[in-house]
Amino acid sequence: HSSPHIVAIDGPAGSGKSSVSRAAARRIGFDYLDTGAAYRAFAWFVSDRGIDPENTDAVVAALPGFDYSIGIAPDEHFVRVGETDVTDAIRDPAVSAIVSTVARIPEVRAHLTELFRSIAASSHRTGIVIEGRDITTVVAPTAEIRILLTASEEARMARRSAEISTQSAETVAEQLRSRDRADSRVVEFMSAADGVTTVDSTHLDFEQTIDAVLDVINTYREAIA
Ligand code: CDP
Ligand code: CDP
Repeated sequence: HSSPHIVAIDGPAGSGKSSVSRAAARRIGFDYLDTGAAYRAFAWFVSDRGIDPENTDAVVAALPGFDYSIGIAPDEHFVRVGETDVTDAIRDPAVSAIVSTVARIPEVRAHLTELFRSIAASSHRTGIVIEGRDITTVVAPTAEIRILLTASEEARMARRSAEISTQSAETVAEQLRSRDRADSRVVEFMSAADGVTTVDSTHLDFEQTIDAVLDVINTYREAIA
């Protein structure tokens, strides 16, 4: 079968990438790949192995043993490492705290980028929505449709803290800001690259954001029909 069409979506934490991408994929019958979940699963794996995330050599040496699988149908939501289901474990604050440290290693990025391209190529649907930080620029720079999903820092922090009840709003905000800072040193996702359409969700609710993303996709519909 011919390779699936790709909708590439990047943006900072809390902009709505995961929830909006999954919903948009479901509406248009595309698969959906959350690349942040893969970085989180690798961070979980490093920690599970007792490896110090700061020890770059040891982290790189663990890469070949990283046996990862993810559901890409929008309704088939699971992430596994080996036989272990880590769908919930990768959202743990302990994983969020170390993920940027392993994600900044070039060998880790190259390995996961290859993995994302082969997962995308394995899709049997018309297309796949791939979401992360460097999808529009590195993983799929030739995608027909590329979107940067942004929102003000205030809106992003409020959304995230509404989801996390175990930590104070200030703690959640501080951790999110420090992760965005660390990630920004490695990949550019705060401003749109050439040819990338920005969708600002600051003043949009969840449904309106899905519609705004679908509008962009529809604009390019001929390209993916
Ligand atoms: O959902 P949230 O915004 O909290 O983050 P995520 O998308 O789950 O990504 C978790 C982490 O993975 C990010 O903070 C980055 O360090 C890393 N990541 C990356 O480096 N490149 C990507 N394409 C996706 C995620
Ligand atoms: O993946 P990312 O970190 O970019 O964001 P997310 O986890 O998809 O969204 C964070 C939260 O914001 C979710 O609970 C969404 O339902 C919510 N959201 C919202 O309240 N309004 C929007 N316009 C978009 C997302």
